[in-house]
Amino acid sequence: MRLTDCHNVNDFRALAKRRLPGPVFHYIDGGADDERTLARNTRTYEECDLVPSVLAGVEEVDLTTTVMGRTIDMPLFLSPTALQRLFHWQGERAVGRAAEKFGTYFGISSLATVGIAEIGATISSPKMFQLYVHKDKGLNRAMVEQCKAAEFDALTLTVDTIVGGNRERCLRTGFTSPPRITPRSFLSYAAKPAWGLNYMFREKFELPNLSGHIGEGSSVALSIGDYFTTMLDQSLDWTMAERIRADWGGEFCLKGIMSVEDAKRAADIGATAIMVSNHGGRQLDGSRAPFDQLAEIVDAVGDRLEVICDGGIRRGSHVLKALSVGAKACSGGRLYLYALAAAGQAGVERALGNLRAEIERDMKLMGVTNVGALSRDNLRWR
Ligand code: LAC
Repeated sequence: MRLTDCHNVNDFRALAKRRLPGPVFHYIDGGADDERTLARNTRTYEECDLVPSVLAGVEEVDLTTTVMGRTIDMPLFLSPTALQRLFHWQGERAVGRAAEKFGTYFGISSLATVGIAEIGATISSPKMFQLYVHKDKGLNRAMVEQCKAAEFDALTLTVDTIVGGNRERCLRTGFTSPPRITPRSFLSYAAKPAWGLNYMFREKFELPNLSGHIGEGSSVALSIGDYFTTMLDQSLDWTMAERIRADWGGEFCLKGIMSVEDAKRAADIGATAIMVSNHGGRQLDGSRAPFDQLAEIVDAVGDRLEVICDGGIRRGSHVLKALSVGAKACSGGRLYLYALAAAGQAGVERALGNLRAEIERDMKLMGVTNVGALSRDNLRWR
């Protein structure tokens, strides 16, 4: 299987599985507990159908939308995700450049493997920084200050990781950051020598946003679940979120909002966007899917902030369904991470090209020429 054989997200997933050591692949691919929420995040899109209009004159289609102060060229962007140089040696650099090519937002994580300053200096497309609030207050302040200096467009505070989700695949494989090769995992790493050579001989693995402050994740190996539970500040609340927004002073997004009440409070503290998200089914298994919650959240706060539908997107038609309900844009993690693991920047570009083409084709087939023309009138639930 080659990159040119990858026509959809599942194809990239299959290629990623062939390229990555098992523990790394399952870290990306897995969810919490029984992975019911992970599966539901995508399956929910199959429970409603698009009703197309025809004879609409669709030779010119405008895919642009506005997200957190920036116009983006397609209504889908790349959610911030952690540890990307473990998936492919080009890591965040590849993802940023691919996003730049497609004129869409991307985000780097607090747990990124390339630092804030470098991304700020090298990537011109809209970028957000995803903040984990740590117990180490100096670290939180330092990250926000670096984002200001690097002129990030938006700060995205993740609010659904107050403790680590129960990721049983990671328990079984022993996946940690940095990766630790144990007698049990040795064979799965040895089976992928190309990955191993890149890991050993390219730039040393580290989490530059953290490493001047804490060793965990960079030099002290921890599972991501344990990292959340031991390193993040469980006293995080609305008052702190509001203070972070004020310290930052720019476009501010809460990622991981699932209820109408919380969406209203997000607007009350001055958030300019929310990402309706359950962290890709990696945290609370049994949580509802973002798309299932979208309508009630849009109805409650759609006129006060931008509502992004994050997670489960595998097809352009899923994006069209979320936009029809009222999302300003959609976002996803695995949809580009499999491609990154499969083929670096070329992979991410191909994945974005596929999805962009699907969105455009489906808009034409729907008889709409701009994303604002989609509405609940063109959707039916079974
Ligand atoms: C995860 C984090 C790091 O879900 O976002 O693994």
